Amino acid sequence: MEFFDLMSISHRYMEILNPSTPEKIIKLGKILKLKKGNRVIDFGCGCAEPLTIWAEEFGITGIGIDISKDFCDRAKKKLGGRRLSDQIEIVCSPADDYVFEEGAFDAATCIGATFIWGGYKQTIQAMKRAIHQNGRLGIGETHWLSNQVNPEYAQKQTTTHTEPELTQITRDEGFELEYIIRASHNDWDRYISDGWYGLIRWLEENSTHPDYEQVFKHFRTDQDDYLKFQNQYMGWAMYCLAPMKSRPKGSQL
Ligand SMILES: C[S@@+](CC[C@H](N)C(=O)[O-])C[C@H]1O[C@@H](n2cnc3c(N)ncnc32)[C@H](O)[C@@H]1O
Repeated sequence: MEFFDLMSISHRYMEILNPSTPEKIIKLGKILKLKKGNRVIDFGCGCAEPLTIWAEEFGITGIGIDISKDFCDRAKKKLGGRRLSDQIEIVCSPADDYVFEEGAFDAATCIGATFIWGGYKQTIQAMKRAIHQNGRLGIGETHWLSNQVNPEYAQKQTTTHTEPELTQITRDEGFELEYIIRASHNDWDRYISDGWYGLIRWLEENSTHPDYEQVFKHFRTDQDDYLKFQNQYMGWAMYCLAPMKSRPKGSQL
């Protein structure tokens, strides 16, 4: 079984595939200044729940790109059911291969998928080409909660930074960190437990499947990682980045 099949199983009972909530996604939309007719591009859009929420709440149009055929199919089905297929296009492709119209979007987002480009910095560098000069970026990303992370766990998560490091990268790339929408402990528990729930249901339904052992091992590893390490050392938040073109003359900041 491939990694994306395991993702489909663990995420099958979720719509937002991250430690977040519909209210927080709406809040991000407000901070991104989304309004009717705005164009949004969402990289690693999953089942397009954020785009669906923004289309219904703010009247945006947009494009969502995701590599998983299963998630793209779920997204298209949902958008059809909500009569949003004319507003939101879903492209099933690796996001870093997708050729977008540069400078054409009011906002570019990547919520929990910065691994597409290999990290937070590379994500800003790729996405800033998509927005016009007053456009904003929304990035959902993990961070270390302290500088003292268990070394065994830190080695598995080489692209995770502390928030001061994320902020410095943001500034180096020509943006200011305008807003943090932080996942609570409950958001994490909901996201991670929804994954266990999906995996256990699959195991119950597929006890003779040739990949049973692999799925079971994935479930146990995921659970142990969360309870031993992630829970303690890792946070997650959505960051809104505002473009900062120039500072007043004489500013020493
Ligand atoms: C944690 S999920 C987040 C989904 C969505 N942003 C949300 O918040 O509901 C990460 C998503 O990235 C997608 N993904 C992983 N690698 C990708 C790639 N190279 N190109 C496009 N999408 C990718 C996965 O299929 C998955 O849907």
